[in-house]
Amino acid sequence: MKLRNWSLEDLESLVKYANNPNIAVNLTNGFPHPYTEEVGRGFIKMAMKGTPKNILAITVDNEAIGGIGLHLQDDISCKNAEIGYWLAEPFWGKGIMTKAIVKIVEYGFQNWDINRIYARPFGTNIGSQRALEKAGFTLEARFEQTLFKDGIYYDELVYAIRK
Ligand SMILES: CC(C)(COP(=O)(O)OP(=O)(O)OC[C@H]1O[C@@H](n2cnc3c(N)ncnc32)[C@H](O)[C@@H]1OP(=O)(O)O)[C@@H](O)C(=O)NCCC(=O)NCCS
Repeated sequence: MKLRNWSLEDLESLVKYANNPNIAVNLTNGFPHPYTEEVGRGFIKMAMKGTPKNILAITVDNEAIGGIGLHLQDDISCKNAEIGYWLAEPFWGKGIMTKAIVKIVEYGFQNWDINRIYARPFGTNIGSQRALEKAGFTLEARFEQTLFKDGIYYDELVYAIRK
């Protein structure tokens, strides 16, 4: 598994893997279902901006099989970045995301003047919670029924790791 920059050549594999309701159900509405070519192209163009890159492709044999990003916060939250990620379903349960999280945390603390990286998985997303814990994150808070997606309320968990 490697992390590298996104390229428009990844569009086909991005749409193939991202167009999956089992992935979208655990993400914000910014990751739609169906996941169309137009959405994918817009995402890749956005991910190609910025230096250093804060949104990276997760690859195996140079094929993009997922995405991971650090979203730098501003104003009084300027020392924080929110991490977000997804992996193609055929690759789940092989420890890939745990490794990807460890790598981007190291990259984030090296490249930006931040001291905390946090994630906000749904309370129902056990896989994401386990990957965060295995990557060294700590559960800092649980907000009950704060998130609302597709007609369902979810608990919002806050996991974080400090520099
Ligand atoms: C959540 C997700 C990123 C996990 O990726 P992954 O590469 O399968 O995770 P890992 O293999 O590194 O798993 C880490 C641990 O969690 C466990 N785990 C993974 N998925 C699980 C699940 N659905 N239920 C229970 N445990 C799970 C693994 O077994 C592993 O523990 P182990 O090493 O003790 O066996 C992936 O399922 C995904 O992309 N889901 C959809 C999008 C998403 O949820 N993104 C995160 C939003 S916060």
